[in-house]
Amino acid sequence: MNTTEANRRLLEKRRLNETHDPMGKPDTDDALDLSRLKVVPDSVAETLRRQAPEVVAAIAEAARAANLPKRHLACDVDRSGRWGEAEASLRERLGTGCTLALIGGNGPGKTQMAVELAKDAMRAGSKAHYTTAVEMIMHFKEAYNPNSKETERVIMAQYRRYGLLVIDEYHEKRETDWERQILFELINKRYADMTDTILISNLAASGMAGIVGPSINDRMREGGGIIECNWPSFRTKPNTPQPTAC
Ligand SMILES: Nc1ncnc2c1ncn2[C@@H]1O[C@H](COP(=O)(O)OP(=O)(O)O)[C@@H](O)[C@H]1O
Ligand SMILES: [Mg+2]
Repeated sequence: MNTTEANRRLLEKRRLNETHDPMGKPDTDDALDLSRLKVVPDSVAETLRRQAPEVVAAIAEAARAANLPKRHLACDVDRSGRWGEAEASLRERLGTGCTLALIGGNGPGKTQMAVELAKDAMRAGSKAHYTTAVEMIMHFKEAYNPNSKETERVIMAQYRRYGLLVIDEYHEKRETDWERQILFELINKRYADMTDTILISNLAASGMAGIVGPSINDRMREGGGIIECNWPSFRTKPNTPQPTAC
């Protein structure tokens, strides 16, 4: 069986087994929906789906590896106003080996902005990856499982490889010195490697300084890399349907 035929069968099998967990990671069927990824026009997505399933599979694999949240992949992004200005200014900086922070309360579109920037990086041929601080620490902790094939060093190397790494929900002071060390080590190594890192937090600038420590904070501040997302939440826009209380 050739590759095209194998991919066609695989796609057909996935289509027949179509199930997804709305709270889980993007599953392959959703990742295969190119119109949802919005990396190519819908008409091109349709043609690719019919004529080049192996290309669709490769794009899906890149999207899965990037771990971008499903909710944010589906968003119809409004680039007007301050959100769009902030996104444009951050886009200019990507590829320069910067450490950036998006800070502010709930809903102004911090995660969405990072997802859009990750998609840009991928379109430019770079590997991007989204994670949360907790998810990443959990991954490092797995190295201590006796059955784990990955050592801490291997996991560190993996997170160093991404051209753009987004670490979301970087709110809490890490509980142990080990957790703090892992995060600092990774952010510092990435800076030395000249890869881009975006930290996202709901803390104010002073709180952020407290959890990243003075050297990372100074570095971010020098480059004007701390963006305060203090515009209104997209979740409370007047035309956004709100959940009804029960
Ligand atoms: N520029 C935008 N245009 C349209 N919708 C957006 C935009 N930014 C965010 N959203 C939507 O608003 C909601 C909140 O955005 P999110 O990025 O999760 O906020 P935050 O991370 O700041 O809490 C999400 O459903 C997201 O898809
Ligand atoms: Mg968020």
